Amino acid sequence: MAKNSTKVVHVCTNCGFEYSKWQGKCYECGSWNTIEEKVVLPEKAVNPYQRPKINLVENLSTPISKIKADRSGESRYKTGISEFDRAVGGGIVKSSVILLSGEPGIGKSTILLQICKKMTDNKILYVSGEESATQIKLRAERLGVDGENVHLLCETDVDVILAEADALKPDLLIIDSIQTVFSPEISSISGSITQVKTSAMTLINATKKSDMATVIVGHVNKDGAIAGPKVLEHMVDVVLSFEGERTQSYRLIRAAKNRYGSTNEIGVFEMSDAGLEEVTDPSRALLSEKPKNVSGSCTVCILEGSRSILAEVQALVSKTVFPSPKRMSTGVDYNRLSILIAVVEKRLGIFFSTQDVYLNVTGGLRLDEPSSDLGIVMALISAYRDIEIPDNLVAIGEVGLSGEVRSVSFIESRVKEAARLGFRRIVVPHRLAPKLEKLDLEGAEIVPVKSVYDLGKMFASDKA
Ligand SMILES: Nc1ncnc2c1ncn2[C@@H]1O[C@H](COP(=O)(O)OP(=O)(O)OP(=O)(O)O)[C@@H](O)[C@H]1O
Ligand SMILES: [Mg+2]
Repeated sequence: MAKNSTKVVHVCTNCGFEYSKWQGKCYECGSWNTIEEKVVLPEKAVNPYQRPKINLVENLSTPISKIKADRSGESRYKTGISEFDRAVGGGIVKSSVILLSGEPGIGKSTILLQICKKMTDNKILYVSGEESATQIKLRAERLGVDGENVHLLCETDVDVILAEADALKPDLLIIDSIQTVFSPEISSISGSITQVKTSAMTLINATKKSDMATVIVGHVNKDGAIAGPKVLEHMVDVVLSFEGERTQSYRLIRAAKNRYGSTNEIGVFEMSDAGLEEVTDPSRALLSEKPKNVSGSCTVCILEGSRSILAEVQALVSKTVFPSPKRMSTGVDYNRLSILIAVVEKRLGIFFSTQDVYLNVTGGLRLDEPSSDLGIVMALISAYRDIEIPDNLVAIGEVGLSGEVRSVSFIESRVKEAARLGFRRIVVPHRLAPKLEKLDLEGAEIVPVKSVYDLGKMFASDKA
């Protein structure tokens, strides 16, 4: 093929991977029928050696010590919803772009309308390409949004949206959702990779040039990835993901990326008739339905950002009817569960090879931290032996492959949270116990453990 002729490539509209030939399935992301033909216009070849030398009169770069830090650029708009502010690191930074992603129906539009309700001092432009003005008005009435400061626009053309933003000069621009927005300069349909990329880039450029902050809603596909190109995550300043089991009422907002703050903070909400309500004491809420006097349930304490949260792990062990026993886990990594089962089998001689094991973390929470290992091991033993763990016990510690209980970070904060909620026996790694001697724990007892061999005495009866 001649060097400068037009080239045809085949691009997956879901992930952006390029193929030389058309095929039914994209091997990169696994989706079917998403590969489309794309014509690439010849690029002008530029020989760097032929380019005339650029002679600068003065240097373009500046020593960092001479750059004045403009504090006003860092200032934030408070949304008035403290759990949301916490997740974005203390408020929405001016001229920043936030990508809010989540599964259909999780509550993205709801939380954004609630932000409109609370931010009464700021002008907001809410652009919807998915719903009509009447539909949004109905939701707004249900949520009690009725301010003069909130302007609604049902539009999908990115140029029209930016023209309106230019005229209105809002402090916050909300785009619900980026998959419906299109740029007329590009021929492909809305939601396609090029459209999403181009319209997002146009919005980001406009945001960076003004004081306005922009929140872009993004759909997620079947696998939980943000639909459209992955590059969208690189382009924006903050990526928030809305998580939670749709069947349960708790919703978590987690920052997956944040250029202006920590990514560990989470915001906890509960879905109700009046919209998403903030859960300011998540531990109490998550433990409110913990059953009493049953086996297989153990309380653990995880760290989410600067906050310790207590959660309940439930295990169910029952005789299998399958040739190979079932293992299922919700909220805990499957491989982690397999490792912990192997540790219990090898070190304690409790065998699960003829048993199905189901593990669940209540409230739709996800335990990514190894500090919940000890609680999971205790729940497994308790479920297998059918003996209960005392209700006032909380287990904190990582379990190693030899069955040893290892230290975890921020033990003081975790132990204090457990004591505040009325837990009387706090099981901690042996090495950390001396650190906790001076703490005022409102009468709670610290129980140090060295390895899983010490766990027998934790149970309500000594059968274990
Ligand atoms: N009348 C109601 N009472 C209680 N909850 C409601 C009511 N109407 C809607 N909901 C809740 O709100 C959720 C829908 O919220 P919302 O429209 O904000 O989701 P979304 O993430 O924007 O969805 P999509 O991706 O489809 O736009 C429903 O799944 C339901 O849980
Ligand atoms: Mg919506």
